[in-house]
Amino acid sequence: MSASTTTTTAPAFYTVAKVGDIGPGEMTYVEVGPNYEPVCLINLDGDYYALNDCCTHEDASLADGEIQGDELECPLHGGAFEIKTGMPAGFPVVVAAKTYTVRVVDNDIQIALVKPAR
Ligand code: FES
Repeated sequence: MSASTTTTTAPAFYTVAKVGDIGPGEMTYVEVGPNYEPVCLINLDGDYYALNDCCTHEDASLADGEIQGDELECPLHGGAFEIKTGMPAGFPVVVAAKTYTVRVVDNDIQIALVKPAR
């Protein structure tokens, strides 16, 4: 029998907003963590999602875009991402956006800069 040691480090969560700051169908720009990662925090029907705020097509802030159903439309060329997965949903976007883990603790919305477990 061999002994193995597994070290799991819990991801760091950062409080970025309060519940109620962002209503259903709204989103906001936040900076997360020590390197001020640009993140678009979205409230989709009461569930929170976080995507990297930089469009993967060119240089645009997704938080300046529009929520269309369960997609986020970029303000610059109208490309789109699936909010829940970050996957491309409309040309000219062909590269997925990074997605991050979001949780609610008491009244705080918190983000960890790791991919959500789905
Ligand atoms: S910069 Fe977002 S679609 Fe072109």
